[in-house]
Amino acid sequence: MIEIKNIRKSFADKLVLDDISAQMQAGKTNLIIGTSGSGKTVLIKIIIGLLKPDSGQVFFEGKDMMQMDVKELKELRKQLGVMFQGSALFDSKDVQANVKFPLDMFTHMTHREKIKRVNEVLERVNLKDVNHKFPAEISGGMKKRVALARALVMNPKYLFCDEPNSGLDPQTSMVIDKLVKELTIEYKMTTVINTHDMNTVMESGKHYLQFLIHIKLTCRLTHRDYICIK
Ligand SMILES: Nc1ncnc2c1ncn2[C@@H]1O[C@H](COP(=O)(O)OP(=O)(O)OP(=O)(O)O)[C@@H](O)[C@H]1O
Ligand SMILES: [Mg+2]
Repeated sequence: MIEIKNIRKSFADKLVLDDISAQMQAGKTNLIIGTSGSGKTVLIKIIIGLLKPDSGQVFFEGKDMMQMDVKELKELRKQLGVMFQGSALFDSKDVQANVKFPLDMFTHMTHREKIKRVNEVLERVNLKDVNHKFPAEISGGMKKRVALARALVMNPKYLFCDEPNSGLDPQTSMVIDKLVKELTIEYKMTTVINTHDMNTVMESGKHYLQFLIHIKLTCRLTHRDYICIK
C-alpha cells in the first residue's frame, strides 16, 4: 500500500502541491486527476523519489521513503515500474534495448534470459516484430506500449502511468486503458495513473476505480467509489 501524507511542494515562489494526503488502494488502479499544470507529474515524481517534497511523507507498506537507506531504496526502485509522460524512450536505442534497459540496470540475468523476458512483455502489450525498430520509426500508440512494456519488464509491484493515453485517438486510448486495467489484475500490481482524460476516469470508474485524488478541484464528479481530496 502507498500512502502520502501532507505533501507540499513549491518551485521558487510557486506553490504546486498544497498539503496533499492520500492512500492508494493495493491491487487496484488509483487515479490522480487534475487539469494541466495542477501538479500530477510533480506528485508522481515525489512518490517515486525523483523529486523531494518540501515537507510531507511517502510510505510504501508503512515504511517512510525518506527514512530508507540506500539499500532499501534500491530494493524499492526494483519494484517500481514507471511509464513516463511522453513515454521517455531513448531515441538512440531500439525497442528491444529500451525495454531491456531496467534488466541491464538491476539484474544479473544473461543476455538470453533478458531477451526472453523482453519478448514476453512485448508480446503481452501486443507488439511483435518491432524489436529492432527505433522510437522514430513507430507510432505514438506503439511508443506508449513500448513504454508500458519497459515499465513491466521487472515485474513491478507498483505501476505508475503518467498520462498513458495523452495524444492518442479515442480508440487507441481505450486499448491502452484496457491493457493497463487487465495487467493490474493479472500482475497483481498497485497502479497509479495520472490523467486529465475524462473518458479514462468515467470508464475506469465504472469498473475498477477505487480512489481518486482531486488536485485543485477542477470538476466535481460524484460517484460512490470516488474519494475527493480538495
Ligand atoms: N522542475 C521544475 N521546475 C520548476 N517548475 C516546475 C518543475 N516541474 C514542474 N514545475 C511546475 O509545476 C507545475 C505543475 O507541473 P506538472 O508537470 O506536475 O503538471 P501536470 O498536472 O502534470 O500537467 P500536465 O497535465 O500538463 O502534464 C507547473 O506549473 C510546472 O511549471
Ligand atoms: Mg503531467
